[in-house]
Amino acid sequence: MGTLIRGGLVVTATDQSRADILIEGQTISMLAEKIDERGHDVVDATGHYVFPGGIDPHTHLDMPFGGTVTADDFETGTRAAALGGTTTIIDFALHTKGDSLHNALRTWHAKAEGKACIDYAFHLTIADGRDETMAEIPRIIREEGVNSFKVFMAYKHVLYVDDETIFKSLLACRDAGGIVQVHAENGDVIEVTTKQALDDGKTDPIWHALTRPVECEGEATHRAIRLAEIAKAPLYVVHVSSAMAADMISDGRKRGLPIYGETCPQYLVCDTEDYSRPDFEGAKYVLSPPIRDKWNQAVLLAKLKNLELHTFGSDHCSFNLCGQKELGRHDFSKIPNGAPTIEDRLAILYHVGVNSGALGLNQFVALSSTNAAKIFGLFPRKGTIAVGSDADLLIWDPNSERTISATTHHMNVDNSVFEGMRVKGRPRYVFSRGVKVVDGDVFTGTKGHGRFQKSEKFFPVAL
Ligand code: URP
Ligand code: ZN
Ligand code: ZN
Repeated sequence: MGTLIRGGLVVTATDQSRADILIEGQTISMLAEKIDERGHDVVDATGHYVFPGGIDPHTHLDMPFGGTVTADDFETGTRAAALGGTTTIIDFALHTKGDSLHNALRTWHAKAEGKACIDYAFHLTIADGRDETMAEIPRIIREEGVNSFKVFMAYKHVLYVDDETIFKSLLACRDAGGIVQVHAENGDVIEVTTKQALDDGKTDPIWHALTRPVECEGEATHRAIRLAEIAKAPLYVVHVSSAMAADMISDGRKRGLPIYGETCPQYLVCDTEDYSRPDFEGAKYVLSPPIRDKWNQAVLLAKLKNLELHTFGSDHCSFNLCGQKELGRHDFSKIPNGAPTIEDRLAILYHVGVNSGALGLNQFVALSSTNAAKIFGLFPRKGTIAVGSDADLLIWDPNSERTISATTHHMNVDNSVFEGMRVKGRPRYVFSRGVKVVDGDVFTGTKGHGRFQKSEKFFPVAL
């Protein structure tokens, strides 16, 4: 006996067809215009879209950062992700200077195992350019199933690495079948601008944005791309916040370089004005790179549409206002950087992208799921609807409306950067490897259901 998803419009990154889907065990066993329902559990998807489950390529769960630990762990974070339509996350395992990459990965496996409600894969960060660190990369890719490594050009004295380390990482990844991800902001400049602002008594949240001007991101993005060009290595630019940085990616791609760009929901709907909200509410928007002037939103959306940006990650990094963001009440540089976005990622892309007419349904699927699966070596097990693929399915009601609020969301955090936003389109059912994990507003899955997914080597896919 299987589960039959009947009568929905099945949408992948390339096709749309009215079809039935049969799930047997953990995978899709049949896809046809009409499947005999006898002997199966039937889920009526009439009037709904059936998308591949969302893949969130950028999350930070149970992560020590900014003098505290993110509010969502692998249980609460993945449960909220599922309720938003995501069936796989790729979380960042944090490497510590002087320690091994393998140890970082072990630590992250321990955080996720037995807790994750949906499947997960990992990226690793690189905290130092020691020979030992670089030497680990091939084995991590070959044996541990991680194909991507993030370097930080920002967060001086914390996660920051210099160009030498970035360049060595690019070479090591190029030779071993990996891809470097970059947080592109000029950390040296930000060190100086931050000190100047604090010396002048500027302590409010708005100074987070004012001390990290868009040129810091533009310059670092350009530098990272040129380093990748010299190394003849692929590059993935995470959380692109501005037109200036996105233009650098477009320019690089015009030169034929294998560069991929990711943007995030917060950059499509929040703007610089949000930092000036009263009563320290501006602290919610302290994340990096910062939120930009409003006009950037339309440019980022156009770049998603024109295939100049390729993925849509949440950069979920949740901190409570009460007790966590408050650490920086008198000093913006002490506000932990990040926002809770894992649950609303798909709703925002759908609302801002599809409902506005900017994106088609196939593009929505590519951006929310398929492209990340391809870049991070999970395709076609994940990221599409095909016979033999995992039965990770999102049955989407395009007409249902809701208002986003911290009072009703499922993330373990007391604030939302999308508070009060009305969105149309939401999950009706979500299946993770054949198990119904969401039914309307209700999580029907179980803690520990999620399994680690090994990534294949990076392959330079044309997107
Ligand atoms: O502010 C952010 N983005 N926090 C998460 C860490 C990172 O840089 O991705
Ligand atoms: Zn980052
Ligand atoms: Zn991040």
